[in-house]
Amino acid sequence: MPKRYDYTMKDVQEVYDGPGGLLWEAVMSEQIHSGREEATDALAMAVGLKPGMHVLDVCSALGAPARHIAKKYRVKVTGLDFTKTMLEKAIQRTKDAGLDNLITFVEGNAMDMPFKKDTFDIVWGQDAWCYVTDKYLLARECFRVLKPGGKLGFTDWIITGEVEEDLLAKLYESMSFPHMETFQGWQEALKKAGFKILDAKDQTEDYAKCFDAYKQKVEVELKPTIIENFGEELFGFATNLVNMWRDAAHAHKVGRGFYIAQK
Ligand SMILES: C[S@@+](CC[C@H](N)C(=O)[O-])C[C@H]1O[C@@H](n2cnc3c(N)ncnc32)[C@H](O)[C@@H]1O
Repeated sequence: MPKRYDYTMKDVQEVYDGPGGLLWEAVMSEQIHSGREEATDALAMAVGLKPGMHVLDVCSALGAPARHIAKKYRVKVTGLDFTKTMLEKAIQRTKDAGLDNLITFVEGNAMDMPFKKDTFDIVWGQDAWCYVTDKYLLARECFRVLKPGGKLGFTDWIITGEVEEDLLAKLYESMSFPHMETFQGWQEALKKAGFKILDAKDQTEDYAKCFDAYKQKVEVELKPTIIENFGEELFGFATNLVNMWRDAAHAHKVGRGFYIAQK
């Protein structure tokens, strides 16, 4: 298991309650994950979303993927997140979009979910579980709350190659990640939690391309806005971060994993 760094749930909440949440939205879009709506639709196809299904989005942030799938696939969604600012914005934007009849947001921890067993048809996650301190506990909770036969579909930032210890420390520090799984490590955690793995893909190539776009966005398009709203220091932090992750992705050291599993 890759080494765990000393970033706590509180550190992660501070990122998303502070400028971090705003910055990621500006860089990645309201759907705060690599690949935008296309990635959400690919996951929707892979888990087989059907009208009326009840989906749990674990680490739902601003709720944009929840709104996208509720509207497009007519599913009911519960979003779970532990950061107040994200939850407040998600609730407001969902109300504004007229989708609050289909989507509910709940405050809670992904490692100890406030739901009864066998509740959801689908458990879902996009590019967020890298923040969760214990992936096995998370996988176990996903298994518990899924109905028998229900499917788990998620993407996550993962370690995909050999990463030097000092580079890994810098990557984690830039994001407040306690620990990223490896491509294989995620599959082991899922199996240990009881899942049958239906599909696992290393999507690092596509992930690296996303970082090419983030580099352009941060260094050119968003530069004046970031400096005006957050100052030179945060601009320096953001450019450094994007370049570091981009280089590591192109070197196939870090990337994105895509997993479909069944209870
Ligand atoms: C990158 S954002 C998620 C993006 C979202 N999945 C999307 O695609 O738009 C990370 C989110 O995970 C949440 N989070 C991280 N660890 C969590 C945990 N243990 N329990 C609940 N939420 C958590 C943060 O509060 C933050 O809103």
